[in-house]
Amino acid sequence: MSLKSNPYIKLNGGDFLYHLGIDTSQVNCKEIFHDVKFVCLGGSTNRMLKFAKFINENLNGNSEEPYNYAYKTDRYCLYKTGPILIANHGIGVPSLSVLLNEIFKLLFYAQCSDVIFIRLGTCGGIGVEAGTVVITDNVVNGELEPIFSYVSIKLGKRINITTTVDADLVREIYDHSSQNNSFTIVRGTTCSVDCFYEAQGRLDGALCDYTEEDRKQFFEKLQRNGVKNLEMESLGLFSYCHRAGYKAAMIAVALLNRLEADEPTSNIDMLKEWESRPFYTVLNFIRSKLDIV
Ligand code: URA
Repeated sequence: MSLKSNPYIKLNGGDFLYHLGIDTSQVNCKEIFHDVKFVCLGGSTNRMLKFAKFINENLNGNSEEPYNYAYKTDRYCLYKTGPILIANHGIGVPSLSVLLNEIFKLLFYAQCSDVIFIRLGTCGGIGVEAGTVVITDNVVNGELEPIFSYVSIKLGKRINITTTVDADLVREIYDHSSQNNSFTIVRGTTCSVDCFYEAQGRLDGALCDYTEEDRKQFFEKLQRNGVKNLEMESLGLFSYCHRAGYKAAMIAVALLNRLEADEPTSNIDMLKEWESRPFYTVLNFIRSKLDIV
C-alpha cells in the first residue's frame, strides 16, 4: 500500500520523519497513533504544550505532563492526548508545510482515517476587537484571491491552487463554539500572507516603502471584501490538507484590531488569556464530535 498523494511512500518502507525526530522503523506508529481523529496545530511550542495540558485536564480529567513524541528535535513538539494529536508549526507556510508533510506520513503509517486538522492561531483583526475569535469561512491571499501559489519542479512552473474552506465544518464549529464562552466569536474571510510586517501593511517594520495613506486604502479594501483577519498560515493549511484528503479548519484569536494599531499589546497576561480562547472553541467542537457532554 502506498500514500494516495505520493506513490513513492510505501506503508512498510521505513521512514525517518526528520523534523519530528521519529524513525518509523523504531516507533510503532500504528500502535501509538492509529486512533488519532484530530490534529490540532498552533505556532509556538509553549502554547501547544499548554493546549495539550488543557485537553488532558478538560477531556481526560488528568493532570499528567504530556509526552513529547518529537523530543529528539527542537524544531517542533508533538503530543497525543486521546484521539488528539497536537503540534506546533512555527511561523508561516514554509515551516507549516514541513510539519504537515511529516504528519500526513505519520497518519498514513498509523493507518488513521477521517482525521480533521484544526489550526488554533493568533491573528490581526480587521474591524474586530482584540480578543475576538475568528473562524475562517473563506481564505484569500494578499491579492484577495482564493489562491495558494507555489513553485513546483513539475515543469519548473508556478502552481496556483484554488483553495476552499469546508462550509459544513465551519458551521459545526461555530454552532458549538458559543457554549460556555464569554468572548465574541465571528466568522469571516481570512487574508493569509507571507510576512508579518510589509504584507500586513505595518508601518513599524524595519522596511517600509508605502505611506500611511496606502495602509489606510489597503485596510479599506480588506473590509470591503469581508476580510476579518490577517495571518500567515491558513492558505497553506487549507491547500495542503485538501491535497492530502483531509478536512481543515482555522480558528484564530485577534491580538489587536489592525484598524487601530500595528503593535499587539505588551500586556503579557492579557495576551496569554486571549491566546487560550481558541482552546475552548476547539474543546467544545471536539466534545461534540466525541459525544461528550
Ligand atoms: N499574527 C499575524 O500574522 N498578524 C498579527 O497581526 C497577529 C498575529
